[in-house]
Amino acid sequence: MKKYVPPEIVEEIRIKTDIVEIISAYVSLKRQGKNYVGLCPFHLEDTPSFTVSPDKQIFYCFGCQKGGSVINFIMEQENLTLPEAAERLAEKAGIVIPAAPQTEIEVQRQSEKRRIYDMHELAADFFHANLLDSHIGKVARAYLDKREMTRDMIEDFHLGFAPDSWDSLKNYLLTQGFTEQDMEKAGLVNKSQKGTYYDRFRNRLMFPIWDFRGKVIAFGGRVMGNELPKYLNSSETLIFHKSQNLYGINLAASHIRRCDEAIIVEGYMDVIAAHQFGINNAVASLGTSLTPDQGRLLKRYSSNVLISYDADTAGAKAASRGLDILDNLGFRVRVLTLPNGLDPDEFLHRYNGKAWTQLVQNQAKSFLEYRLLTAVSKHNIKTIEGKADVVNDLLPDISRIKSQVEKDQYVKMIARHLEIPEESIYADLRRKTGYFQNVDNFNRGKHTNNTRFQMNEAKKENYKDAYHIAQKSICRLMIEDRENFDRVEKTLGLDFPDIPVLKDIMQFVKKIYADFDWAPSTLVERTDSIELRQSIAELLLEEVPGEDREKLLRDYIKTINLHKLKKRIEEIQTIIHDQEKKNLTNETITLLQEYTRLQQKVQQLKN
Ligand code: UTP
Ligand code: MN
Repeated sequence: MKKYVPPEIVEEIRIKTDIVEIISAYVSLKRQGKNYVGLCPFHLEDTPSFTVSPDKQIFYCFGCQKGGSVINFIMEQENLTLPEAAERLAEKAGIVIPAAPQTEIEVQRQSEKRRIYDMHELAADFFHANLLDSHIGKVARAYLDKREMTRDMIEDFHLGFAPDSWDSLKNYLLTQGFTEQDMEKAGLVNKSQKGTYYDRFRNRLMFPIWDFRGKVIAFGGRVMGNELPKYLNSSETLIFHKSQNLYGINLAASHIRRCDEAIIVEGYMDVIAAHQFGINNAVASLGTSLTPDQGRLLKRYSSNVLISYDADTAGAKAASRGLDILDNLGFRVRVLTLPNGLDPDEFLHRYNGKAWTQLVQNQAKSFLEYRLLTAVSKHNIKTIEGKADVVNDLLPDISRIKSQVEKDQYVKMIARHLEIPEESIYADLRRKTGYFQNVDNFNRGKHTNNTRFQMNEAKKENYKDAYHIAQKSICRLMIEDRENFDRVEKTLGLDFPDIPVLKDIMQFVKKIYADFDWAPSTLVERTDSIELRQSIAELLLEEVPGEDREKLLRDYIKTINLHKLKKRIEEIQTIIHDQEKKNLTNETITLLQEYTRLQQKVQQLKN
């Protein structure tokens, strides 16, 4: 049942929870001024950029930009949903979460779901019994023998057989009290044009698909000859969302945790072969390329992944897309390409588990190494242009690396491979990504703050320092205090920032204005957008220079107004300049008048 925690309870949990105490269980924190700092649990670093603010009750990492309230921290750290995280903290704080009121529709949905689960359980047992039946399952068992699958695997994966019949499962489920409509909702029967129902899976070897709790939620069915499609899978139902599940996760989870690495392969047979050969941490993404949801599911168990997809181009493409997704989710990824175009199932049966382990040790490529090899295979690195193209392809990857040590290693690797000096790669990096934080990383060997806000600003050519600081600081003061917000909204409106993130923050605050208690931790919790949450946390941890908030706000508003005036003056200058080339018109005269007026205003503001 989906939990619901009312906002006032979330609030109470947060108030009764000490963020420093909770986070200390995961991170060793040291006091630094008003805040606590430590090594970030969400990315690798060797100097602490992870900051906890007890007075604001938020955390923020200047290295990886993660931030939020204590509840967000637990969600991130333990891979929980908000209600789950709230529940966990509530327990500690001795708060009871009231049972959620359920609507009638929800009750109905729940019972429908339960029926679908029950039908799947029964169907899995039905198929399994067929496979073991000496008569019905003969051909299917012979097929599995041919593929050298052991009896243990047939049991562990609860494999089955759907007989060559239009109604064997249907009739069985009818005797168990389910209707044809129920079965259709479960995706186990199809409806013909005449309106009759027939079994979806016929004459196929059946692979039950479980969720991470071990509940059967779908099936994959393989033909035993060469007919197409080779695999027929369940369609999406109330309980099956293909993109959110990984085949074998229920069996592999504890092993993934223990080896602190998951292996992702493509197919059913690959997972089963892996288990048969003692590689128990394998799961499959089921033919599609990996999705972020699947990545997050894995994150519950480990942050390390080995991808071993088929060596064909489709496999390589899928692996490559999966890599990006996993990299973005903060996984440490390795890629294993098997020799001679074999897939894991074929490799393991031809050689054995030991050969696999050895291959992983010797041949698995790091994410970046794999990227390098892919880039190299696309260009002719015998030529200077080819080398430049490879470096160009890799620049985004290099600039994303957070650890300077790793970055140096990678640059070294590329330089060696291309036989070029490391310094030319750094030079390209500086030129291409001049406005990213990495330049600073490169120069000073450590993280800079406020990357999010700097990106936009530095792109602008006539970037004005004071104007930039004013925008940020005004927003900072606005989200801290309702009166500040009201005042600025009245004088400047909410469109004044030209930094997009700040604009978004303003719109967001406006949206929740009516029922927002102006506590920083509420603010970070109220948004579903991670990007926004992190930006807000970052903004809130900015130091405001000076205690006199009143005066600060006045000064900043002045700066913004000045900037607006100057921008208009520049515009007018350009127009007048253009018109002078032709000849003076009435319009020019009006503009000149405006120009003089604006200049006077600037003087007034400055005094
Ligand atoms: P493969 O074609 O690599 O099959 O598809 P396989 O897993 O190696 O199976 P065997 O060894 O030939 O028996 C990889 C995965 O893609 C999905 C399945 O999940 C399959 O395991 N797939 C493939 C489908 O869903 N439908 C298909 O028709 C083919
Ligand atoms: Mn295969």
